[in-house]
Amino acid sequence: MTRPFARIAGIGAAAPDRVVTNHDLEQTLDTTDAWIVERTGIRQRHIAQADESLSSYTLRAARDAMQQAGVEAADLDGIVFATVTPDRRLPSIACDLQSALGAKNAWAFDLVAACPGWVYSLTVAEGLMSTGQGDTILVVGAEKLSTITDPMDRSTAILFGDGAGACVLRRTTPDDDRGILATYLGADGDLAELLYIPGAGAAEPLTEETVRDKRHLMRMAGREVFKAAVLAMSRSTDAAITRAGLPPDAIDLLVPHQANLRIIEATAKHAGIPMSKVMVNLDRYGNTSSASIPLALVQAQAEGKLKPGMIIMLVAFGAGFTWGSVVLRW
Ligand code: UT7
Repeated sequence: MTRPFARIAGIGAAAPDRVVTNHDLEQTLDTTDAWIVERTGIRQRHIAQADESLSSYTLRAARDAMQQAGVEAADLDGIVFATVTPDRRLPSIACDLQSALGAKNAWAFDLVAACPGWVYSLTVAEGLMSTGQGDTILVVGAEKLSTITDPMDRSTAILFGDGAGACVLRRTTPDDDRGILATYLGADGDLAELLYIPGAGAAEPLTEETVRDKRHLMRMAGREVFKAAVLAMSRSTDAAITRAGLPPDAIDLLVPHQANLRIIEATAKHAGIPMSKVMVNLDRYGNTSSASIPLALVQAQAEGKLKPGMIIMLVAFGAGFTWGSVVLRW
């Protein structure tokens, strides 16, 4: 495979309408707006209504990406859907999206890699394209994290939000130098219990007891996650830029996973990238896991920060522990 083999032809993002501000959280949690802003950079997040499905706002993101790419549902050869919060366990939400879009020619599956899910999915989609599984693939990262977050746990409830993002990845033409230049993925399962859901899986099926003890909700060792995150993000930026054969100062825009402003600042500092070249929008959305990078990319595009030919670095870390990065020429 000679790169660039695949390029992002269109992007889209969406979030539920309901906004929950830090001041709203002050009403129910022992926390303050000042603490949340100082320690995380987050000011508000979008939270779905209980009866609002993940599919509903994901469909908006997918349609926007397809419109921008100029592709119809019938043009899609495949759908990779990164999520840890599908609407139901079976079948995959990718198949629900395939049906909702009417993408009759597309294969579809879900990918579970937590916050770097969209970065993992871009990498997998490019790989599948290179082995002949199609030329036009919809790559989605979308979450309804409010369904796995304990609203009374101030260490997590302040961080997470709901949202969706998508792109259409298309095979490049021989004269096109835009597209994916390098990818890098990593994982360390020894760190699983830094951020996990103890129950409600096959090992501990959902029971009244599981729910009472909140074992179906996320548990996080925040400070340890923070340290591991800075390491993983730094390692990932170094690895992808090296694989791309470019110097770190070639990066025109860093679009990192939006988890904590301090993690983003530490990553940028490590890579020698000034914050003026870093896309930050976690103040508006909080941490939306696999949706966070496409949500940030869409905002960067709307703000005129994405220009043809720019070198873009996408980098993420998350539960698993997992991490990954993608270098693109836009
Ligand atoms: O996609 C991956 C998702 N996870 C992450 O990215 C999490 C990474 N970690 C973090 O972002 C940070 O560790 C947190 C924002 C979760 C916490 O910030 P921190 O600066 O690491 O705080 P800490 O856990 O060291 O706690 C400092 C203090 C503690 O009080 P004491 O023991 O010093 O009295 C906490 O109990 O802050 C307290 N605290 C809070 N206070 C007000 C913890 N959460 C809150 C809160 N409001 N929401």
